[in-house]
Amino acid sequence: PTTRDYTFICKRTNLAPDGVEREVWTVNGQYPGPIIQANIGDTIKVTVINEFKDPTGIHMHGIFMNETNWFDGVPGMTQCPQISGTTFTYTFTVNQYGTYWYHSHFVAQYVDGLKGPIVIHDPEDPYLSSYDFEYVMTVSDWYHDPTGNFMPIFLSYQGNDPVPDSGEISGVGRYSCSNTTLPCKDNGYATYKVQKGKRYRFRIINTSAMAHFVVSIDNHPMTIIECEGTNVQKHTVDFLPINIAERYSVIIDCNQPVNNYWIRASMSRCSIPYQPGDPDTINSNSSLNYDVRGILSYDGAPKGEPQSTGVKIPKSQCYDQDVSTLKPYPPQPPPQSSTSTLELAVNVGFVQPSDVLEATVNGSSYVPDFKEPTIMKLKNGIDPSKFFRSDNAYGYDFPHCAVVDLIIRNLERRTHPFHLHGHNFWVICQGEAGSFNKSLGSLEYNLVDPPLRDIVTVKPQRYIACNPGIWAFHCHIEWHVEMGMVAQLIESPDIFIKNQLPKMPRQISEFCNKYDNEKP
Ligand code: C2O
Ligand code: CU
Repeated sequence: PTTRDYTFICKRTNLAPDGVEREVWTVNGQYPGPIIQANIGDTIKVTVINEFKDPTGIHMHGIFMNETNWFDGVPGMTQCPQISGTTFTYTFTVNQYGTYWYHSHFVAQYVDGLKGPIVIHDPEDPYLSSYDFEYVMTVSDWYHDPTGNFMPIFLSYQGNDPVPDSGEISGVGRYSCSNTTLPCKDNGYATYKVQKGKRYRFRIINTSAMAHFVVSIDNHPMTIIECEGTNVQKHTVDFLPINIAERYSVIIDCNQPVNNYWIRASMSRCSIPYQPGDPDTINSNSSLNYDVRGILSYDGAPKGEPQSTGVKIPKSQCYDQDVSTLKPYPPQPPPQSSTSTLELAVNVGFVQPSDVLEATVNGSSYVPDFKEPTIMKLKNGIDPSKFFRSDNAYGYDFPHCAVVDLIIRNLERRTHPFHLHGHNFWVICQGEAGSFNKSLGSLEYNLVDPPLRDIVTVKPQRYIACNPGIWAFHCHIEWHVEMGMVAQLIESPDIFIKNQLPKMPRQISEFCNKYDNEKP
């Protein structure tokens, strides 16, 4: 194992990801940010030099952070916000393989650009011989306005989630320039060069704020081999639904005639409440480029846009790829019984008396405490039961290595992709959004071959709580995070406080005092 060193100079740069120029929160001037790569067992060091003129905090999505909870990158929970003009180094060891990503976890900053892929290679990957080359492909929604301009308004009124202006593949989008008076140019398409006869692994990551995508490549079926850091039994699909923060590896066989083929990423409006008579997807709004495209280009193909016409993309149901097609390989059945159950009801609704729309977990809406993050409260000796309720903190009484059944009851009609920090979990049971009202005893669990993942569109899950620390559990629709759909699962606090917290580096607590002076 070696140490992989990365330096992230974070600053605002004018870029035009979809053709329309705006200020983008970049890493080393790049959007999306540079890829972090390592082998399983390596230590990764990311030194963040914050020149944003905003605080920041970077979360490595899906990385377990064993014994380094304080590098989980969640200002208000696991660290003070990293104020601008300072340097902060994340150091962690990765004993897991697969496809991950990093993103700012400070307010809605990742939507403004601070995000990028993480790939952990496994020299013993059983699928290594199934492909010749690999690519990373991100799909994302995009906004012309920096989030700081519209979040305060959005959070204070009662309306729908902000909708994207466009979408992009690997940071390249195409806004219809005729729809704007802003300076606008044609960016072309994200293009992936391939050779006929070769097989390619595509690591697909949805880095959106709110968009669900269905991805396909004309004439090229995709064979799923990995889901969020767990290899799965090969399963071939024509269309891949991918919700926010989800990741899949697929293999495509470039066995078609030498030519250019459309890569299609169709965006859907899962987080906007449906009105009767509404179109099912935002694709039907033709003034915006919600039918996002890229190009798979064979060596030797003629210049120009693909002529390929794919099958019509099925309408998004806003759900995940079917669980029965994501069987871990080799098999990894879950523990056959659980020791603890945690039930969380999630909702979005108007809260009296202010009549502001809020998102809640078990009735309360999370507000981060940037002045005294949870980790500092523990360090300062505050009894977890004191902030248990007010900070949406749960589960601090689980025994170490408890097998926890986490049941999410979704009280509204929309789906929410829920992510658990520091763990992956088996998706053992599922039901329709808004209809999950069975008693626990009547649920039928799949305890044979359920998928293991770290984000799921509201379905119950079982996980092993062997990772002491403070772990966020939240809907990954960024607007819902800002509205409070967040819980903190404080795992094995005794072990964490006694054995681990004394090793917490000073930089974690360094910036809270200065935070006041700087507004998010
Ligand atoms: Cu992708 Cu709380 O994170
Ligand atoms: Cu949500």
